Amino acid sequence: MHGGIDHRTSVLFVCLGNICRSPMAEGAFRVAAQARGLAALVDSAGTASYHLGHEPDPRAITVARKHGIDIAGQTARQIERDDFYRFTHIIAMDRANLEGLRSKAPRDGTARLAMLLDAVEGRRGEPVADPYYGDAAAFEAAWQVINRGVEAWAERLLRETAQQNA
Ligand code: 4NP
Repeated sequence: MHGGIDHRTSVLFVCLGNICRSPMAEGAFRVAAQARGLAALVDSAGTASYHLGHEPDPRAITVARKHGIDIAGQTARQIERDDFYRFTHIIAMDRANLEGLRSKAPRDGTARLAMLLDAVEGRRGEPVADPYYGDAAAFEAAWQVINRGVEAWAERLLRETAQQNA
């Protein structure tokens, strides 16, 4: 790549429906990145198409708002071919999401695929449980885990960016 500008970090968070976990991750990561001075493009998508065009689940909006983050403006979309070239990192919430991504990834796609908790010390490969069939407590628990994950990713990506620019 030329000139350095292409090294800009871009992160796509992916779950099944893009109405619960990945919208929370998108919102939480924006704040975690900003807090650390990490310039990153952020988006989220689902592997499934059930909820295209929908705003996040009201329970996800409520828990995010409780933590001071507004995710109400997001709109669900499905992962698409271009995403595997446009984003530097595509981060899945659970193993099924990751397998879904792998099955859709073009052979020459450039995005790195990983799971959210891979960046958290001692929790590599662990899933973020789907809160969709749970209650408000399940959403609060999901928020806590997701926040842990996005903070770890923000730290990791900050280090990678620093190394690339060194
Ligand atoms: P998400 O949760 O993948 O975290 O957005 C779900 C949302 C919808 C469904 C499943 C999970 N669903 O089966 O419709």
